[in-house]
Amino acid sequence: MSFSIEKIKDNIGVEIKADKETLLSGKHSTEIREALEANGVFVLKEINFTSEEQLEFTKTLGHVIDEGEGGIYKVTLDTKENEHADYLKGAFYWHMDGSTLDVPILASLLNGFKPSETGGNTEFCSTYVGYEDLPEEDKAAYKDLRVVHSLAAAQYYVHPEPTLEQISTWNMMPSRTHPLVWAHESGRKSLVIGASASHIEGMDYEEGRALLHKLRIHCTQPKYVYSHKWTKGDLVAWDNTGTLHRATHYPANSGRMMHRTKLEGEEPIA
Ligand code: OGA
Ligand code: MN
Repeated sequence: MSFSIEKIKDNIGVEIKADKETLLSGKHSTEIREALEANGVFVLKEINFTSEEQLEFTKTLGHVIDEGEGGIYKVTLDTKENEHADYLKGAFYWHMDGSTLDVPILASLLNGFKPSETGGNTEFCSTYVGYEDLPEEDKAAYKDLRVVHSLAAAQYYVHPEPTLEQISTWNMMPSRTHPLVWAHESGRKSLVIGASASHIEGMDYEEGRALLHKLRIHCTQPKYVYSHKWTKGDLVAWDNTGTLHRATHYPANSGRMMHRTKLEGEEPIA
């Protein structure tokens, strides 16, 4: 019954070393939740969870979202495996999951069922540390700004010249306006940015977009980023409330298959 947590990088990521039995017992769930919030990402190398074990482990950390097959969602570009695979191309750009929800999801857990032979890393950056490291005058300037997030904004990255049908499908998902700076109940603050961030409310449109890109460039500097190179059976989880993530390029026919579970959000952006 071994259990240890070691930092991967100063600003982001820890590796948890433990056996399956210890993890599934839930004995360390509070410690794991705290490590996730404090470090943005945790990695369980080659833990090789079955779907049942992944679900069971996810349940020890919070409330599992019922998505996909009984809570397991297939992240793949293979449309035979997932009919909505085309939307997942949006994952090649820095983003938060569920940013058009009032309460964004707390965390996602990805099980590397079949990594791609080439590319297909998953990368994470901390929007907590990115915010904390901003100059004080910038923090003051951003204090009351509000940012509009939409599915369409994220999908324009994938389809820069969409059909009208694509646009109307995207627009069925209502956009959502959030504070740019999320003041969490814990007292920490993070930036609510990423590909779904369309513009800043009440600011000149292009000026607002330039600011959102400036913040993305700031938060994704190498010192804030952990890039996970997958080995089959790795499980990687991210705190979706204080990180952005993306997949690096991989071929659509690579067979890459990730099994994802999600934890329901517990705190609205405020
Ligand atoms: C996701 C996601 C990235 C990846 O599942 O939400 O963005 O590397 N995945 O597959
Ligand atoms: Mn995602």
